[in-house]
Amino acid sequence: MKCRIAPSLLAADFTRLGEEIKRVEDSGTDILHLDIMDGHFVPNYSFGPCVIEAIRPLTKLHFDVHLMLDEPQKYIETFHKSGADGITIHLQPCPDPTEILNEIGSRGLVRGLSINPDVPVEKVEPFLDKIDRLLLMSVFPGFGGQKFIAESLGRLEQASRLIAGKNIELEVDGGVCLENARAIKDAGANLLVAGTAVFRSADMRAAVNGMLQA
Ligand code: DX5
Ligand code: ZN
Repeated sequence: MKCRIAPSLLAADFTRLGEEIKRVEDSGTDILHLDIMDGHFVPNYSFGPCVIEAIRPLTKLHFDVHLMLDEPQKYIETFHKSGADGITIHLQPCPDPTEILNEIGSRGLVRGLSINPDVPVEKVEPFLDKIDRLLLMSVFPGFGGQKFIAESLGRLEQASRLIAGKNIELEVDGGVCLENARAIKDAGANLLVAGTAVFRSADMRAAVNGMLQA
């Protein structure tokens, strides 16, 4: 699978979202990561479906919606209608996510499952035939700009062995930057979420290419 960088809108300048989307398109990537937080599953809020709906007409970028919610099942339809192309839910609040993943799939969306850094990787094994994207958090979610947790590399290697031969993207989120991109890719990840490292760089195209070529 080709490696891709997914800029995380959380690190964008919210006073000029339209221009920020244009910058993502000009960077050469085809995917945008959208972090949704509910103040319960994570100790922070971000933005909601109305922001996704507002930016949807601006671009054909794949919208990779990351739901950090206690009750994601209540909002699949809402985020689908707002313009998601893929929806990722967390395993912790949904010990058996089968039904929710099926709903995401029945809507024709990419089905994602995520785990925090303290959840054993093997917990996702029963659901591997129900997902298209496995997201390993490399920070505890809630805030951009945190430091990549080094143990995530071993977890990515383990996940990559689990999904070997399956058509599943291996996504990593949190603290990804030019300095660790090589190690992250070597560990098997092929979808690298990056907020601070790309949005806070003056030349987003160079930042994206730097990580792709690292
Ligand atoms: C963390 C979010 C991330 C975050 C990544 O809660 O899920 O997507 O925006 O930001 P950086 O790349 O700055 O760590
Ligand atoms: Zn995220």
